[in-house]
Amino acid sequence: MKIGILISGRGSNMTAIVEAVQSGLIPESEVAVVISDKTSAEGLIKAKERGIETLIVCKNGRTREEHDAEIIGELKMRGVELVCLAGYMRLLSKDFVRAFPNKIINIHPSLLPAFKGLNAQRQAIEYGVKLSGCTVHFVDEALDHGAIIAQKTVTVKDEDTPESLAVRILEHEHPLYVEAVRRIAAGEIEIVGRRVVSVKN
Ligand code: GAR
Repeated sequence: MKIGILISGRGSNMTAIVEAVQSGLIPESEVAVVISDKTSAEGLIKAKERGIETLIVCKNGRTREEHDAEIIGELKMRGVELVCLAGYMRLLSKDFVRAFPNKIINIHPSLLPAFKGLNAQRQAIEYGVKLSGCTVHFVDEALDHGAIIAQKTVTVKDEDTPESLAVRILEHEHPLYVEAVRRIAAGEIEIVGRRVVSVKN
């Protein structure tokens, strides 16, 4: 399975996926390209160090649709079959979602459907929840809304700040994301309505 990964920053989830593919944890797969919308994304260096092709596709005053069209073209040109959003901090256009139906997945640092959008860890602390976590989900045309593949809970401590909670959630993001990609690559899951279920043999 050819994987394309979109990032905007640090790229620790991207690195976890790349390393899982390269170590054989996700078999018969290849990370074909890592694309960033930010020239400054630290993850670009991490991808290059691991021998992955990188591309920077900035918005540059274009519309969302024009920007996405370039990214879609780069992904299709490389035969990408699964798009992983890994800290990619832009909303995808409908065109993008339709170009890869049920082939785009995302990781979000909360237990969806709670705390969608930006600063999910801060939202969780301010709301006062005692449990938060992370979610891997398929991407549809609404924000942080697509069918849920996997979730992991993390306890919110009294002394937590958004930063300390983010660090603890991140530790769980990496294995959760890797396992979700592995299951997709292995054909182990399917979408039934809004539910992601194990394929029965
Ligand atoms: C991760 O915590 C990810 O869940 C979050 O950004 C961070 C990216 O870290 N994504 C979102 O908030 C998306 N709404 P990384 O660049 O080190 O993978």
